[in-house]
Amino acid sequence: MYTSTYVQKLYINPIIQYGAIPVFLDVTIPQYNIDVAQLEEAYTEKTKAVMIAHTLGNPFDIQAVKLFCDRHNLWLIEDNCDALGSTYTMNGITKYTGTWGDIGTSSFYPPHHMTMGEGGAVYTNNPLLNKLILSYRDWGRDCICVSGQDNLCGHRWDGQFGELPKGYDHKYTYSHFGYNLKVTDLQAAIGVEQLKKFPSFIEKRKHNWSKLYEALKDLQDKIILPAPANHSDPSWFGFLISIRPETGLNRNEVIKYIESKNVQTRLLFSGNIIKQPCFDELRSSNLYRVIGNLMNSDFVVNNTFWVGVYPGMTDEMIDYMAQVIKEAIEK
Ligand SMILES: Cc1ncc(COP(=O)(O)O)c(C=O)c1O
Repeated sequence: MYTSTYVQKLYINPIIQYGAIPVFLDVTIPQYNIDVAQLEEAYTEKTKAVMIAHTLGNPFDIQAVKLFCDRHNLWLIEDNCDALGSTYTMNGITKYTGTWGDIGTSSFYPPHHMTMGEGGAVYTNNPLLNKLILSYRDWGRDCICVSGQDNLCGHRWDGQFGELPKGYDHKYTYSHFGYNLKVTDLQAAIGVEQLKKFPSFIEKRKHNWSKLYEALKDLQDKIILPAPANHSDPSWFGFLISIRPETGLNRNEVIKYIESKNVQTRLLFSGNIIKQPCFDELRSSNLYRVIGNLMNSDFVVNNTFWVGVYPGMTDEMIDYMAQVIKEAIEK
């Protein structure tokens, strides 16, 4: 199971909890996505899947990753939580991120492109994976009847499963150790309304990102600006900035100044995740593997931050943000 180190503790947790071995690869800058040159080195016969996030909306090199997965017969899971609405073009076909792999995931936690308050979605076009996903969502049930439905398949009372007697109610037959991950009707109602506004959210996010880029592009001797992946049209989650170390500027001082002017900043989530305290007890174990020295992930930990491109921001607000960032860097 491969992942890049810079981003999310959140999707690594289940890999560890499940007892699988995550393998961490470095990122490239200024894409802040997985360095595909390391993929082959990371592969072993035990490798089952590749799971990677599209960082802050910027698609990873889907073409290279897909070729790698096809070559080794691996599942591809796209963590699309930060990239809903991003597109990627391969062999003349343009598709949304999250639909290139076997499974895509979205988060509808409030800061994301659309929200349901909490919750998320998993998507696939593979009928078998779909059945498995629904089973894991619904306590691990074998039966596919939705709540309130009975005997859809007409075989509720005539199957034989595990060591249960023949004819045991299929409704209460469990083929997996699953969870209860259903969204509520209330969340769904919010999601339906958000979907109507979603296209305008994406346009506004792209607009805000481009406006920030224009305003900051003359500072490239001091900061590294983000770069969209080749063949992509990102639906940006945020705007990443790295301080060039040769400027002698201290990233924390820069963000403290920006925050003092009422502009919020964020670091790139967990940074180099294996440096986090949750790894303290794992460090001497063989419960994870690392490829190379994660030099760029460490660079991100020390020099990178980001600001939001929330669609509710006006041009005036974006101008103010850009002005404050300039002051922080030039003062
Ligand atoms: C890339 C990425 N993956 C996973 C998650 C986790 O999503 P949730 O908070 O819905 O569990 C997030 C949340 O911010 C995210 O940004």
